[in-house]
Amino acid sequence: MHKEFDSPKRLLECMTLDEKVGQLSLYSADVKLAGPDPVNPTLSFQAPEHRFADIRAGRVTGFFNGHGDAFVRTLQRIAVEESRLGIPLIFGADVIHGFHTAFPVPLAEAASFEPDLSRKTAEAAAREATAHGLHWTFAPGADLCRDARWGRAVESAGEDALVSARFAAARVRGFQGESLADPQRLMATVKHFAAYGAAEAGLDYNTAELSRTTLIDHYLPPYRAAIEAGAGAVMSAFNDVDGVPATANRVLLTEILREQWGFEGFVVSDFESDLETIVHGLAATPREAVRLCFTAGLDMCMQSGTYAAHLPGLVADGTIDIRRIDHAVLRVLRAKQALGLFENPYRGLDLSYDPVPSRTLAREAARRCAVLLKNTHGALPLKPSARIALIGPFAREQQNLNGAWAIFAANAESVNLEQGFLAARGADALVVEPGCAIDAPLDGGIDAALAAARSADVIVLALGEGQHMSGESRSRADIGLPEAQLQLARALRNVSKPIITLLRTGRPLVIPELADLSDALLVTWFLGSETGHAVADLVFGHAAPSGRLPMSFPRHQGQVPIYYARKRTGRPAAPPPAMFTARYIDVDPTPLYPFGFGLGYGRADYGATEVDAAGIGWNDTVTVSCSITETAGVELEEVVQLYVRDVAASRVRPVRELKDFRKVLIPARGSVTITFTLGRTDLAFADLAGGSVTEPGEFQVWIAPHAEAGTPATFVLKAPLPSSATEEAT
Ligand code: GLC
Repeated sequence: MHKEFDSPKRLLECMTLDEKVGQLSLYSADVKLAGPDPVNPTLSFQAPEHRFADIRAGRVTGFFNGHGDAFVRTLQRIAVEESRLGIPLIFGADVIHGFHTAFPVPLAEAASFEPDLSRKTAEAAAREATAHGLHWTFAPGADLCRDARWGRAVESAGEDALVSARFAAARVRGFQGESLADPQRLMATVKHFAAYGAAEAGLDYNTAELSRTTLIDHYLPPYRAAIEAGAGAVMSAFNDVDGVPATANRVLLTEILREQWGFEGFVVSDFESDLETIVHGLAATPREAVRLCFTAGLDMCMQSGTYAAHLPGLVADGTIDIRRIDHAVLRVLRAKQALGLFENPYRGLDLSYDPVPSRTLAREAARRCAVLLKNTHGALPLKPSARIALIGPFAREQQNLNGAWAIFAANAESVNLEQGFLAARGADALVVEPGCAIDAPLDGGIDAALAAARSADVIVLALGEGQHMSGESRSRADIGLPEAQLQLARALRNVSKPIITLLRTGRPLVIPELADLSDALLVTWFLGSETGHAVADLVFGHAAPSGRLPMSFPRHQGQVPIYYARKRTGRPAAPPPAMFTARYIDVDPTPLYPFGFGLGYGRADYGATEVDAAGIGWNDTVTVSCSITETAGVELEEVVQLYVRDVAASRVRPVRELKDFRKVLIPARGSVTITFTLGRTDLAFADLAGGSVTEPGEFQVWIAPHAEAGTPATFVLKAPLPSSATEEAT
């Protein structure tokens, strides 16, 4: 705490209204987007001199996306030594999946089904980011995503609420650790609150058209999990919910966030989303936008400057009570206090940190995120003697390894596929040809690729999305493979050599033809700094794929949005020639690859799902078990999934809901018995008041390898006895 103040409350008592409003005003570092990368351009800072007067006057609470000793130390010194109260600035940034070391994108990490892996990568990211003077990250994103057209699927943990919740909470714990006073920790921000991923038609920024129960059952739990894990801040979303922009939505920012969930941190707008309430058609003027957003529960204004321009006047004319301003300012001052900024405004700055541990972790994380979707006749792993033709637009390029929001990554130090394969096999075993560009043919590219393929024993085909094809404002109506890449793949199919396809992507793609012509298909997402080494480890068998799909892969984009936790309908799809059931006349309504699906180099054979009781009392639990045997003679890491279906309830429930998952090692030819326990709280669903309700009745339960597999066991949850019902009521 600053010299003469022993608490934020004491400091607040000495602040002028302008200084208070200054603590609610956050601005971007003035960066120039430089460099060839259209998605993660190199950020070069413009001289911040024109900010000095604002800082001296206490008109700025902090900056974002500026970092480094010169930038942070210069501005912080002015704040603490030259402003009247010496309140330190807070420096935030989009540290989404790494800092200088890029880890796999969030959707890739979700595919590991190992939340603790994300805790570790978040912790490592915090170590690097704080060394460059950052205090606060605008992560984790906790936006459930069921529509692969949405560009920011890449930043999500996919379509399932439980997976999204566990990863969001794990990232918060990784960023924040046990105490924000630890100078190597970042304050986390859960975003984008709320239901940003429900953008209609997958169109970024679009309205979130969803029922209140779907919002409560599926979209809210990931944000709540992050808050229960202790996230210090919440970022509002660009979209509207029920016709009210999230940034001015009192139901979201006050009733749910504060009154139901007890959130005590502060809420910051997304980039000028407060001002955008005018564009939405809610506010008529900037002053009205400020009144609506602030009274809805938005504490801090990012970038627009509207709070600085209009909050003083709204207080002066009595529209806004100064006590509400004080509550918001206290939340911000307490965050700065928790970060130790009053004691040490330069906390964390230490450019002598060692990046090696992060690179080791990045390689391990990347290996564990890849998902093997097909492996005909054991095409993978490759034989040591195989001569390889590494072909495709991603065979040797450097710019598309990290995926969206890797704006601080030391991209030149990342390892591309060719480098990884050379390190693993040497130049004699490898011939490399691009064959085509990411979304255009190359003159002579296919001919050169065919020649390379003919000279090799096996083709490794590196295809997919460039990183400019997913991320913010990168929604796609056509989520197929670019035609030039399909042309290349079709041409290579005629060479009659095994084709191992590596699919780089920030979302599920529509790839039925590519899947057909591939002997093996490995989804490698965007794996970050250690891409080349990690993929080589998997392709050559130094590690085995253990990822599973966090989002369903459609057969056809007309199916999108497609997700496993769908409602059954009164006429569930029946195979042709049945008519009048929930199916298309032209496309199989099931996904090409379902949620939770993935292969390893071993093979898992699931026994029957069993329950230890056909009926359980209201306060009892049921143990669900299954014996799983490895049958290929290769040890296997299997993501065992527990699904439940509430057969009849006061609101129709999904055909399946994931209630737990666990990655387990099954020894070669060995068997393991997996058990899960379920109680009535695990069977609850949202009531319309925002609480949760469990109803007695029949439940189906599966222990399965993915969302379309297995035969359920059944148990009955008995109604509460009159006494326990009374207990329940008290
Ligand atoms: C962007 C994004 C948000 C990010 C913020 C600051 O528009 O929506 O995720 O944290 O602006 O860069």
